[in-house]
Amino acid sequence: MKLLIIGDIYGDPGIEILDFHLKELKNELKPHLIIANAENSSNGRGISKRIYNHLLGLGINIFTMGNHVWGNREIKEFIEDSNILRPANYNNLPGNGYIVKNINGLKVLVINILGRAFINLSLDNPFKCVNDIIENVDHDFSILDIHAEATSEKIAMGHFFDGKIDIIFGTHTHVQTNDARLMPKGSFYLTDVGMTGPLDGVIGVEKEIVINRFLNGFSTHNKVSKGRKQLNAWFIDTELQYSKLIHLEKE
Ligand SMILES: [Fe+2]
Repeated sequence: MKLLIIGDIYGDPGIEILDFHLKELKNELKPHLIIANAENSSNGRGISKRIYNHLLGLGINIFTMGNHVWGNREIKEFIEDSNILRPANYNNLPGNGYIVKNINGLKVLVINILGRAFINLSLDNPFKCVNDIIENVDHDFSILDIHAEATSEKIAMGHFFDGKIDIIFGTHTHVQTNDARLMPKGSFYLTDVGMTGPLDGVIGVEKEIVINRFLNGFSTHNKVSKGRKQLNAWFIDTELQYSKLIHLEKE
């Protein structure tokens, strides 16, 4: 199985760099499945129907989300019939926390979970929630997006599910980590795929807004940063037991 996982798509810059590079990446890597985290694709907050359809058209098959899943209200109208996952520990809200797709002859289970540390300590326990899903949902191959702030929570989850989930990756912090590896019991693991969006902002936002917030303590609305763009992704070939980190830039 060959997979391409695209890190948090942030606003129009993220969509523009995918318009430019995704076709060549698909031609070069020939993935059976493309997954992207898209919780920031609509101007930094959530996803719209128009953007969802556009990204599907580019060839992305499954979309994971996170704490900003409801950032664009439109999603409530179409999430039920979509390939969009919201965190599985938002269990009483619309949509699904996992999906099973038949890919390359295998029942592939994809799960999205939200970490608790520094995000929301009152959420259902992400370890137990994911464990319940993998024990109760019929599948041949499994993939987990841990949308979380703390590297410790992601790494702990990586070890906890090592040998039980085939591909484990993190999103949310928007900076690609250089720790892609095969875990001792055979799972592929990466702490954060990184962001697909602006290169020169502060994790996607115009840098002046964030610097001002740190410097003077007052807050203005976030704006998507302009200028150079970056694409961050992770390619995995499970047959060859090989993976590589992808980082591309565009003016
Ligand atoms: Fe997030």
